[in-house]
Amino acid sequence: MTSSGTSGVQSQSPEEINPEQQIALEEYAEHDMPVHEAVLPVPDPGVEEHLPRLADVDKAAADRVERQVVTMYLLVPVMAVLFVLSYYLIPRTESIDFGPLHSSAKHVALGLTLGIGVLLIGLATQQWARQLMANNEVVEERHPAHSPADANEEALRQLNVGIDESGVPRRKMLIFSALGAVGILAAPALVLLTDLGPVAGPNYRRKTFETTLWKEGIRLVNDITYTPIKPEDLSIGQLLNGVPENLKELSGTEFNNAKAKCPIVVVRMNPADIKIPANRQDWQVSGILAYSKICTHVGCPISLWEQQTHHLLCPCHQSTFDLADSGRVLVGPAARALPQLPIKVNDEGYLVARSGFPVPVGPSFFERDSRHDLGQSQEYR
Ligand code: FES
Repeated sequence: MTSSGTSGVQSQSPEEINPEQQIALEEYAEHDMPVHEAVLPVPDPGVEEHLPRLADVDKAAADRVERQVVTMYLLVPVMAVLFVLSYYLIPRTESIDFGPLHSSAKHVALGLTLGIGVLLIGLATQQWARQLMANNEVVEERHPAHSPADANEEALRQLNVGIDESGVPRRKMLIFSALGAVGILAAPALVLLTDLGPVAGPNYRRKTFETTLWKEGIRLVNDITYTPIKPEDLSIGQLLNGVPENLKELSGTEFNNAKAKCPIVVVRMNPADIKIPANRQDWQVSGILAYSKICTHVGCPISLWEQQTHHLLCPCHQSTFDLADSGRVLVGPAARALPQLPIKVNDEGYLVARSGFPVPVGPSFFERDSRHDLGQSQEYR
């Protein structure tokens, strides 16, 4: 078609120029652009022969595809029902171990049923579209996407005028100092990234947010006056806000960090009204119990006490905990019971901690080991 050493369509006879090339030639002429073989379409190789799919020519195959698609769609409601059943039937505290990973059985079941349901919709729709929907081939013609040559020249001219007017060609220090000033701003940005650390590994967590000031023998004191609390200071139905006695030895950031984790509520209830599991019998003193004051949802301090019902209400999102039943969650978004602080009376008659909190206080975090929570709450099911 073209002879070597000559220039594409320019060397072709008018009869050899195909309709596509003709359209391109007309468009180039219209925009006053140079005609060169490199920018012209190659001769049209034509559309490949259209081969019908098996489902287009074989009714049995099409029926089979239809059955596959319908089966997949019909399995979706099954997944939806399993999702709802999993939500209501699998206890929140049930867990599954995958090697070192410890996961909530309910979450795994919800994820699998919903995920499989969505996957089935996707697979069924794709199979429908690929095998049964109309299979037409459509050709979209290509056209030159260049700007006209004069527009290119004008843009370049204006760019050069701008560069010239900025003074850069004559005062090169300007551009070097400007680039240097912008580039050096990467340094503060990189330094700020170090605030993402340190990595919260097990040791770091143990020393920081998994630990509070509470340990054996620390006296419970009033959170405002720091007065040590004796059992006789509380009447039945009364709630006091408390902190560990050693909090007042701290100051500044250390004080604030400690105070964010250690506050407690101390309540006295009629022992006959309290459900005390076997492993917590010695965590209380004649119906006086101490719980973390930090909501296990997102960490608001709580002390809205309903004396008659023994409920403690979080004002932030209305999580409600039953202090007569080991701080169990009654309603609301909190997923874990309020951690209970084991207490006893010391030789001087003051309430003191029997130990630190057996589980981390406050909201959940990704690496939180919930096995001890499960052990505690299973006794109530
Ligand atoms: S912080 Fe208590 S319910 Fe959200």
